[in-house]
Amino acid sequence: MKKSFSFGLVYIFTMAVFLTPTNTLGSGKSQPASPENMEIYTPAPKSTPRLNGPLVYGCTPGKPFLFRIPCQGDRPITFTVKGLPATLKLDPSTGIISGKTPEKGVYDLTIKAKNPKGKDSRELKIIASGKLALTPPMGWNHWYAHYDRITDKMVREAADVMIKSGMADVGYDYVNIDDCWMNAPKNNDPKRVGPLRDDQGNILPNTYFPDMKALTGYIHDKGLKAGIYTSPGTLTCGGFTGAWQHEEQDARLFAAWGFDFLKYDWCSYGKIAGNDKSLEAFQKPFRQMGTILKSMDRDMLFNLCQYGMGDVWKWGGEVGGHCWRTSGDLGFELDRIFEVALKNSEYKAFSKPGEWNDPDYIQIGWIGNASKMGIPELAPMPAAMQYAYMSLWCLMAAPLIYSGDMSKLDEFTLNVLCNPDVIEVDQDPLGECALVIKRPDTNFVMVKNMADGSKAVGLFNRGKNEVTISVDWKELQISDKQIVRDLWHQKDLGVFGQKFIANVPAHGVVMVRITKK
Ligand code: GLA
Repeated sequence: MKKSFSFGLVYIFTMAVFLTPTNTLGSGKSQPASPENMEIYTPAPKSTPRLNGPLVYGCTPGKPFLFRIPCQGDRPITFTVKGLPATLKLDPSTGIISGKTPEKGVYDLTIKAKNPKGKDSRELKIIASGKLALTPPMGWNHWYAHYDRITDKMVREAADVMIKSGMADVGYDYVNIDDCWMNAPKNNDPKRVGPLRDDQGNILPNTYFPDMKALTGYIHDKGLKAGIYTSPGTLTCGGFTGAWQHEEQDARLFAAWGFDFLKYDWCSYGKIAGNDKSLEAFQKPFRQMGTILKSMDRDMLFNLCQYGMGDVWKWGGEVGGHCWRTSGDLGFELDRIFEVALKNSEYKAFSKPGEWNDPDYIQIGWIGNASKMGIPELAPMPAAMQYAYMSLWCLMAAPLIYSGDMSKLDEFTLNVLCNPDVIEVDQDPLGECALVIKRPDTNFVMVKNMADGSKAVGLFNRGKNEVTISVDWKELQISDKQIVRDLWHQKDLGVFGQKFIANVPAHGVVMVRITKK
């Protein structure tokens, strides 16, 4: 990948009067995406181990436990864990911890990773209380890449790539199947048409999914987790078999197959709800499934998909959800990411550990146009906007679910998806969604309080030209000397006294973390 141009970030210090040596952007005008102008912001991972991933992990006593320690650096790496409860075991060469979740309690682990080049150490709190998703889920979902073309082979490949590409080393761990894995009463592809259920009423996968249990086993062997999709209606949004009147039976089968995540999509349930637009009617199918999932013999994250109806953010957690879409499908329109993010941030108060607002998937790299269920193409999104996209999602504490074609992941896309300094903002244990501070025109600043007392700040420019955006300490409710770190470039910029000013590229972002000196 060529680095053909770079942008000028003029940092104006109030402590010291100098300009940091930076790159220069040229005109600062937006450029359409092409492999030639996709600037790589983040340095390549070092060969020495760097432990990443959440600092807190929630699970339910007595249920199966699976966690792959995210760690960058040259393999082989040897892992050790201090404080591991007796019900869990560590594979020292893969860093996979598995077994049965110990009895109720908080377990403080010290994880160590070592290779011939160096070592790293990181704390992880396992909280065995039954509360899941203490940080936003991270992973992959097939929808925006493969639509009704999804197969077992593609899902396995996604799991392979999640490991090989290094995505799992920064915390991605769910490999999620969306719609169209079951049979449909009618479909253009005859291989997706067949009996909907067997004689006992068990839902049947279509011929592209010959063995669901083997598929989740394949994913679990890598230390990753598996997700599945259905609808409370008779049919899914894609016209495939839904769970109507088989809710418990289907959920039990999903658990028996070994799934760890369920996306439950309203779709044709509207016909069942009819004219009842009451809150209870909106909640009913989700409350039912939420209760069922809690009674399973394995932990399953519950992802509500009903496009924000009835202000789902106010009650999604109460009915057992761990995350819920706050609006319709994001689709793929330039600039829509900013709108969706700004709207999603209005529900800031409802974002907390175990309960996340979901602005939909990350659609960069090779994705298929949603309106045509198209074959994946390289997203026509300026490079700077892709960094803005990832920054918005991390500042919002959104689930980080990539939805592009994993078989075509390129260096640029991986660079946007896999910066652990940026991901740490998303995975912060406080679980706050950033506050939006508007600016004249189309620019805005997002500020997120971090558990260590620092602030993660994104300066966003929605316009077509580079602009200068400033944020002062009063707005951030801080004072004195602050260390400012550029997260995308993983570079400390210096100590600042009263404010931070940066030139922000067209459609782009400058994202920093500000920590008291
Ligand atoms: C809806 C959802 C999408 C996807 C499709 C599948 O549109 O919002 O995320 O799951 O259904 O048909």
